[in-house]
Amino acid sequence: MSDARKFEAQPVRTVSGSVAVPGDKSISHRALMLSGIATGMSEVSGFLASEDCLATLAAMRALGVRIEQPSPTDVLVHGVGLHGMRAANRALDMGNAGTAMRLFTGLLSAQAFDSQLIGDASLMKRPMERVAKPLREMGADVRTHNGTPPVDIGGGRTLRGIEYRMPVASAQVKSAVLLAGLYADAATTVVAPAINRDHSERMLQSCGVLLTTDGLRTTLQPPQELASQRLNVPGDFSSAAFFIVAGLLGASGEGLLIQNVGLNPTRTGLLDILRSMGGNIDVLNPRQSGAEPVADLLVRASALRGIEVAVELVPLAIDELPVLFVAAACARGETVVTGAEELRVKESDRIAAMSAGLQAMAVEHQVLPDGMRIQGRAEGPAFGGGEIDSFGDHRIAMSFAIASLRAAKAISIRDVANVATSFPGFVSLARSVGLDVREAAA
Ligand code: S3P
Repeated sequence: MSDARKFEAQPVRTVSGSVAVPGDKSISHRALMLSGIATGMSEVSGFLASEDCLATLAAMRALGVRIEQPSPTDVLVHGVGLHGMRAANRALDMGNAGTAMRLFTGLLSAQAFDSQLIGDASLMKRPMERVAKPLREMGADVRTHNGTPPVDIGGGRTLRGIEYRMPVASAQVKSAVLLAGLYADAATTVVAPAINRDHSERMLQSCGVLLTTDGLRTTLQPPQELASQRLNVPGDFSSAAFFIVAGLLGASGEGLLIQNVGLNPTRTGLLDILRSMGGNIDVLNPRQSGAEPVADLLVRASALRGIEVAVELVPLAIDELPVLFVAAACARGETVVTGAEELRVKESDRIAAMSAGLQAMAVEHQVLPDGMRIQGRAEGPAFGGGEIDSFGDHRIAMSFAIASLRAAKAISIRDVANVATSFPGFVSLARSVGLDVREAAA
C-alpha cells in the first residue's frame, strides 16, 4: 500500500563514526518459529523488532505460543513442542514479509489444523507456488490463488519425506520444505542449484536436529523434539550493506566502523563484489555468536571501478543489489549484473524500481531481463537529485538515501514507511554518521 511518508536526503560529502545495525531479519524469523515448536523456554537477544519479524511474533502467539518481550530486542519464547501449536482463530497476517509467509507455509502444512496466510498489497502479489509445489509433493494440502496469496493450508495430512530439486536458489523455499520435513515420515532432502543462505540449517542443528549438508544437498531426519535455544542474533548484514556503501563513498579519514555484523558466508557476496571493485573494507575482531560468524567492519573511502559481477555471487548478495547499483553508479567504468532475475519478485520489481530511480537521477544504465548495466561516474556528483519513488520497497528507499553522498541536489524519496519492515531507526542511525536524511509527511 502506498503511504504518505517520504525521505528528504540533502547532499553531504562525508560520513564518520560508528554504528551498530539492528538484528538479522532472516535469523529473527527463524528464531521465533523454531523456539515456538521447541521443548521448553528459549531466550533470544538482539531480536529485530521490525514490522516483518513482529508479524511472525504475532502469528506465533495466535498459534498458541506464549512469547514475552521484556525489551524490544529481548524475547522469551515458551516452546509448545513440535505438536503443541493450535489453530489461530483468524487469518495470519504476514504484512510485507515474504520470508514469514513462505516459512509458515511449510511449518503449518504439517499441523493438525487448517490455516490461512494473508499479507499486504505487495505480498499478495508475490509468487507462492514455489513453496506450495514441493509441499504438495510431500502430501500437504496447500492452495494458492493463481499462484499468489491468500495461501490456504489444510491440516491433518501425513507428510512424506521427499528429495526436492529446487529450480531457484531460494533459502525461503528450502527452509519451508525443511520445516515441513521436521514432521515427515522419513528423511527430507533439498538440492539447490546454487549456494544460498543457510541460517535454517545452522539453527536446526543448534536445536539438536540431525541435518547434514553435502555441497548443495541438505538432508534432515525428522526429530522427536527440538531443543530450546539461547540465541544472540547478530546485526543484519543486509542492513549493514547501506553503511558499507556509505563508507566507501564518503568515510572521512579514519573510516566508518560498523559493529557486530553477521558475516555468514552465504550472505556476504557484497563484500567480495565491493572488494573486487576496489573497496577497502577490513574485517575486525572476527568471532562466533552461537552458530553464526560475526565481526566488526571498518570501511574507508575508496575509488571504485566497475566490474562484471560473477553470477555465483548473485544469490549471496541478492538483497544488497539495489545498494550495489548505487555504488556502481559512483564507480569508474561499467558494472554489469546478470543472473539476478529473482530481483523482479522481491518486495517490488527491484530492477524496474532501481531503473526508474536511476533514470530520474540521470544515471546512465541499461535494464537487462535479469540484471542491469550501469555506467558509473567516478568524479563529481553521480546522481542529479530530484524526486523518486521507492515503490513501497524498504531497500529501494534506503539505497537512494545513501546516494545523497554523491548527489548534486536533494533526493526526495516517496513511499518509505516500509523501511520499518527491516530497519527501524534507519534515519537516526544514518544521521548519527553524518547523512542528512529526514523523514517527513509527503
Ligand atoms: C530470505 C531469503 C531470500 C532473501 C529474503 C530473506 C530468507 O529470499 O531475499 O530477503 O530469510 O530466507 P529467497 O529465498 O526468495 O531467495
